[in-house]
Amino acid sequence: MKELSAHLCCLLFLVASFVPLGAKGQDNAATQPDSLVEIQSLPRLKDIYAKDFLIGTCLDFYSPDTYSARDLEVIKSQFDVATPENSMKPGNIHPSEGQWDWAAADALMKFCQENSIQVTGHTLVWHEQTPNWFFLDANGDKASRQQVLARLKEHIETLVGHFKGKVKGWDVVNEVVRDRPDPNTENLRPSRWFHAIGSDYITWAFKYAHEADPNAELYYNDYGIEQGAKHKSSMLLLKRLIHDGAPITAVGIQGHWSLRNLPYKELDQAIADYQSLGLKINISELDVTLTGSGGGQLNPGGNAGASATPASGGVSSRRRRFPTPEQLQAQADGYAKLFQIFQKHKDAIIRVTFWGINDHHSWEAGRRPLLFDGQDNPKPAFRAVVQAKD
Ligand code: XIL
Repeated sequence: MKELSAHLCCLLFLVASFVPLGAKGQDNAATQPDSLVEIQSLPRLKDIYAKDFLIGTCLDFYSPDTYSARDLEVIKSQFDVATPENSMKPGNIHPSEGQWDWAAADALMKFCQENSIQVTGHTLVWHEQTPNWFFLDANGDKASRQQVLARLKEHIETLVGHFKGKVKGWDVVNEVVRDRPDPNTENLRPSRWFHAIGSDYITWAFKYAHEADPNAELYYNDYGIEQGAKHKSSMLLLKRLIHDGAPITAVGIQGHWSLRNLPYKELDQAIADYQSLGLKINISELDVTLTGSGGGQLNPGGNAGASATPASGGVSSRRRRFPTPEQLQAQADGYAKLFQIFQKHKDAIIRVTFWGINDHHSWEAGRRPLLFDGQDNPKPAFRAVVQAKD
């Protein structure tokens, strides 16, 4: 029945979508009473892909008016699961020793519970957005291995414990493989965690998280690990973690890609490789930018502050035309191919999470990477993902 209504919905949508999206007055759309009905009557990705994997987004509730009524409607109607974009990161939630700032993360949990949206935690251990106090002693000198390990334990126990039974799974460690290629080794990033503790900090993090919530799924999350040297290093790392008894459920392939470098073949193979280790897969931060080179590094080409115009700049007439229909169609084709690959591996994939709800609420806002535009109108990419359902 659910499937039938999803298909009917698709059909109505495909007919309706012959009206050019740009023809809808964008300002009007946000204020008209029927503007929410318009969103409610779209096909729902979470229903269309219900038998394959969960569909997710990232969210944060730092202020009550972060999201418009239309944004909220998109969130509630399209997504099964949410990842906090920033509010559970160490720097945000645990800014200094003994100080915990739960407000935004608790608000997210409340919203998700009220709207039957599951929550995945992000992220317990990372080299970014992590304050220095973790690594310093009382004199401001380098803390001992013992002290940093104790802090790692306390951080994970308290955070995972706070949300015990409420979080589906945690990104336990984020982005630990280095970018500079060294495919024959684990090639661990020389982060403050690595320097303070050594390469076993990753195993410890998984063990502490498992002790704090034995029912939560636990993930290793990274960018670029679906291809090349980073993929090889990630395989070595995962084999070691499994051998050392780290309770790991899945690998998160972040999926920050651009139209220039969609790695279809490599992704297909990487999913199979991880599955051969007995692991599940999350596509954990999916976006496909129209411009730029993709990747997941913070600020490689200025992503976090990406402007509303193409990164390459250009003459003003070009700017006015951004995004072009051709770019939007290429993005739609790219997303369709990705969803074909995801469906092929539906037995391995737990969830596909978009990194944002629309082209406004995105860390790559200027490069228009998502399925909805800044006013929550569905883009050609949305249609393509709907139609990609086999
Ligand atoms: C990004 C957020 O989207 C931004 O708001 C923040 O300024 C920086 O972090 N990989 C990750 C995410 O694992 O946590 C990052 O999120 C994007 C790259």
